Amino acid sequence: MGISVCWIVCAALLLCPLYLGVDNLTQALCNNVNLGIEGGSYTFTKERNYASMLIYHCPEGYYPYPALSRSCLKSGSWDPPPKKRPIQKCRMIECPNPLVLESGSVFPVEQKYFVNNKTTYECYSGYTLRGSSSRVCQSNGKWSGDTPICSSGVRDGDRCADPGIPPGARRTGDFFRIGDKVTYRCDDNLRLIGSKERVCLENGHWTGTEPKCYYKHTYDTALEITEAFGSAIRGSLQVAETANDTDLAGKKISVDKGGLLNIYIAMDISDSIKEEEFNEARNAVTKLITKVSSFSVSPNYEILFFSSDINEIVNILDFSGENRKPLKDILADLDKFQYNARENVGTNLNEAFKTILEKMAFQKIRNKDLFKELFHVLIFFTDGAYNMGGSPENTVLKIQEMVYMNNKTEREKNLDIYVFGVGTEIFDEDIQPLVTKRDGETHYFKLKTIKDLEETFDQIIDEGNVVGLCGLHKNYGDTPDKQRLKYPWLARIYVTHESGSQGKCMGSLVNRRFILTAAHCFKFEDTADKVQVKIGKDTVAKVEQIILHPKYNLKAKEKVGIKEFYDYDVALLKLTTDADISVNVRPICIPCTKETSAALRLVGDNITCKKHEEILLSKSLEEVSFMSHDKDKDRMEQENTVKLKLKQERDNCIDFAAKVDGITKENLKEVVTDNFMCSGGRDPTRDNIACKGDSGGAVFKNYDDHRTIQVGLISWGTKNLCPEGKDIEKQESDEESRDFHTNLFKVSDFLEEHLGNDSSDFAPLTFLPKK
Ligand SMILES: *[C@@H]1O[C@H](CO)[C@@H](O)[C@H](O)[C@H]1NC(C)=O
Ligand SMILES: *[C@@H]1O[C@H](CO)[C@@H](O)[C@H](O)[C@H]1NC(C)=O
Ligand SMILES: *[C@@H]1O[C@H](CO)[C@@H](O)[C@H](O)[C@H]1NC(C)=O
Ligand SMILES: *[C@@H]1O[C@H](CO)[C@@H](O)[C@H](O)[C@H]1NC(C)=O
Ligand SMILES: *[C@@H]1O[C@H](CO)[C@@H](O)[C@H](O)[C@H]1NC(C)=O
Ligand SMILES: *[C@@H]1O[C@H](CO)[C@@H](O)[C@H](O)[C@H]1NC(C)=O
Repeated sequence: MGISVCWIVCAALLLCPLYLGVDNLTQALCNNVNLGIEGGSYTFTKERNYASMLIYHCPEGYYPYPALSRSCLKSGSWDPPPKKRPIQKCRMIECPNPLVLESGSVFPVEQKYFVNNKTTYECYSGYTLRGSSSRVCQSNGKWSGDTPICSSGVRDGDRCADPGIPPGARRTGDFFRIGDKVTYRCDDNLRLIGSKERVCLENGHWTGTEPKCYYKHTYDTALEITEAFGSAIRGSLQVAETANDTDLAGKKISVDKGGLLNIYIAMDISDSIKEEEFNEARNAVTKLITKVSSFSVSPNYEILFFSSDINEIVNILDFSGENRKPLKDILADLDKFQYNARENVGTNLNEAFKTILEKMAFQKIRNKDLFKELFHVLIFFTDGAYNMGGSPENTVLKIQEMVYMNNKTEREKNLDIYVFGVGTEIFDEDIQPLVTKRDGETHYFKLKTIKDLEETFDQIIDEGNVVGLCGLHKNYGDTPDKQRLKYPWLARIYVTHESGSQGKCMGSLVNRRFILTAAHCFKFEDTADKVQVKIGKDTVAKVEQIILHPKYNLKAKEKVGIKEFYDYDVALLKLTTDADISVNVRPICIPCTKETSAALRLVGDNITCKKHEEILLSKSLEEVSFMSHDKDKDRMEQENTVKLKLKQERDNCIDFAAKVDGITKENLKEVVTDNFMCSGGRDPTRDNIACKGDSGGAVFKNYDDHRTIQVGLISWGTKNLCPEGKDIEKQESDEESRDFHTNLFKVSDFLEEHLGNDSSDFAPLTFLPKK
């Protein structure tokens, strides 16, 4: 909300925009008479100075009444002015009147319903209930569950189902035939969020979204936002991801698919948004951008902070052609901005929309054909109150015109405007006309605090329905349950051998049907039905087939004194059914696939397996991780880090294999073939070392924080340093201990043959040309 002051500007620039007026420098303080609140407390944003806001706080389940906040005017008085009656106090939060159910009864019937009050719903005979049969009043001022509706089946002539009446609302319109209209209004003190009017369509659906009645103090929970914003933004990201290269006006322009998605983020930094809220919103935006980047798209960004002026943090015009601003630069720019650096405290919401309109106009002039293909997503964080620059409604209309290009039907999907209402008082009526209205989608959210928004954004794109993304994982949290979400591909393998003994190995889910592991986990006589796999936290899978690398032969060199020979130590386990992809279960990326190119953000038709190798194994000391098995099934596996010794470092590393019985300087290279990567030792840093039970586990790298790519798998080591019979923690290498890992680049033919089989009954991976 905020009120404009101008003297800071005047002093600095000797220029005073007229709309700010001339200020009285000898301001009076606002008084502190009758400011108290019964049952609660209050804080100021700038003490009792001009333009300060007084904000009331109440315990959970209560809201400040009659005022949520007051602002200190130039005249030295509060707005709204504090009064003796009605006394300012914390009132119990109520939920809107549920007794609006038609053709059914509500129990209990009360005058008012407070937090934790429960209601149950029953339909008269002949009617059936849709929605929730019982609901609880929640501390955000909403009923849990869905609106109960009693209907007698579809009546003659009706096309749409009864749309019901949400609590606190009234409906006019009782016919649900094609073209029929129903309209809603909310009781006094409630505002209608959603569609005031809905029309029954030929396809049996109602236009718009179900209306809801909100109090001033009603807000949306993190879960509600995750569900609604999540499904919408995922839609945008996937549209952009599947859009094809476009043949524009005869000349082929190769566009990075992500280049088709423009995301404009505008954050209100006027006085009504506290510094803490600002920082939380900034963290949330950072999280959103990082998570969006874990999709294969890299969108163009415009980021604005606005008050009476616009602070442009990231300029979308910097994303033209080849000059894409890297993610880390965007995040650094975002981080650099100081909240205190603001000079004005007014709110010019319209100017923020105008800035975005100008950027669009510029892009359209630059390349009209390309502009037609662009998707624009606008995300605003504001309380909606503007005290200068006028209403943004007209600017929003112009933005729509610009994007729709006279064909709304065709191009409406190219524009999405979301507003997150933040701040003590949110001006719903002013915000609602600005957001996109699309059937079944929500574009306006009201937050009580932005604190949870970061985690909300984090959850948004980890839903199971983003199936195509390998190696995507969550990356926060310190509880074991949350930490495990970093390794949704992790598989534990239990084999019951013929002798009755049990073997344990590790593995990784590499697509929905296959686990990658080591060949030596299996004995010749082992059968698929004796193998059990656990993926992620606790998903149990059955195995249909054990597929060993055809060149794997443990005894191949027995005659020349090498008792065990681990070359081509790789196996695939084909599961009986596809694993269900979720937050807990998701494949890791493996080299030489198109899926991994996307994770590495490589675009074009030109990417080869060799290119992946150049990126993933480029250094002579390459830091990677593997997971160590834990004896205790319920405990979290530990992440170990090692440095692979490649290129000029390799020979030195593998020399230590000659300490093993049967291996000599002469036959060393015959045992440790080029198919192995070496780690271990204490130089240059002390590596972790694998233990029994770690075999077959992925040797992996993290990319961009949110994608995991496997480069090898644990095969064998020179020494067993792990204590028997004890809980195994991470084990550190000594001077001489070395581990050897099968290099996935060397077995990619085998992987391609089985995982890339496109005449099979599972979704294959797409493999790249070798060179
Ligand atoms: C400035 O404010 C003070 C205190 O409210 C008042 O006495 C004085 O007349 C004001 N001056 C002007 C120029 O408005
Ligand atoms: C509803 O909640 C209020 C406040 O907690 C409580 O006093 C009242 O007994 C509850 N009513 C019912 C029917 O549970
Ligand atoms: C992309 O191209 C393929 C084949 O040319 C086509 O089947 C598909 O519908 C196109 N996708 C989009 C989003 O245009
Ligand atoms: C809008 O686009 C669709 C699909 O390209 C086309 O069939 C229709 O004629 C267009 N309408 C107008 C008014 O240009
Ligand atoms: C393909 O790769 C070659 C060599 O790396 C490069 O010169 C060429 O420009 C690339 N082509 C495309 C379309 O990216
Ligand atoms: C590929 O799939 C087909 C059909 O299921 C199967 O007959 C064939 O053996 C598979 N090839 C390999 C190498 O697994």
